[in-house]
Amino acid sequence: MLKLIFLLLLQLIDCANITVQPVSINATLNSTIVFSCEGTGDELTVRVNNTPATNTDVIAKGFSVTSSAHDGTRRTELQAIAYEHNNNTEVRCRASTDEPLQAVLSNTAILMMQG
Ligand SMILES: *[C@@H]1O[C@H](CO)[C@@H](O)[C@H](O)[C@H]1NC(C)=O
Ligand SMILES: *[C@@H]1O[C@H](CO)[C@@H](O)[C@H](O)[C@H]1NC(C)=O
Ligand SMILES: *[C@@H]1O[C@H](CO)[C@@H](O)[C@H](O)[C@H]1NC(C)=O
Ligand SMILES: *[C@@H]1O[C@H](CO)[C@@H](O)[C@H](O)[C@H]1NC(C)=O
Repeated sequence: MLKLIFLLLLQLIDCANITVQPVSINATLNSTIVFSCEGTGDELTVRVNNTPATNTDVIAKGFSVTSSAHDGTRRTELQAIAYEHNNNTEVRCRASTDEPLQAVLSNTAILMMQG
């Protein structure tokens, strides 16, 4: 019984969650901006217009992602250059666990260029 409670507790701690949501940004043209997310789980990734931020096409558009983990909290930062072709880009973070397989998506943040 005690073992079961312990296992349940572990699952609660490990459960996938977004604790810091990405925030929409109105950028000036060609400036460099950063979207940040924090979450729990085995992995925290970023999606740019529904494509993984590590995709080569996404990188070619001026995006780069860095991740770190600290005491079970994962943090990921998406740096973007506010090129005109990146206007109205949708950014979402995704926290996931492997066991049990579970995924949580963040709110959608928008990168908008001031006209
Ligand atoms: C997820 O994180 C949010 C923000 O910290 C918190 O309010 C919420 O209770 C958490 N949800 C779960 C299932 O842990
Ligand atoms: C960005 O600008 C648009 C249009 O002016 C506005 O609707 C939106 O609220 C602004 N968002 C932020 C985060 O300032
Ligand atoms: C922004 O960068 C593009 C591509 O490098 C350049 O053609 C354009 O003139 C720049 N615009 C401004 C306002 O800096
Ligand atoms: C970006 O898109 C918004 C809304 O579609 C528009 O108002 C703005 O002028 C655009 N910015 C640039 C630099 O094209």
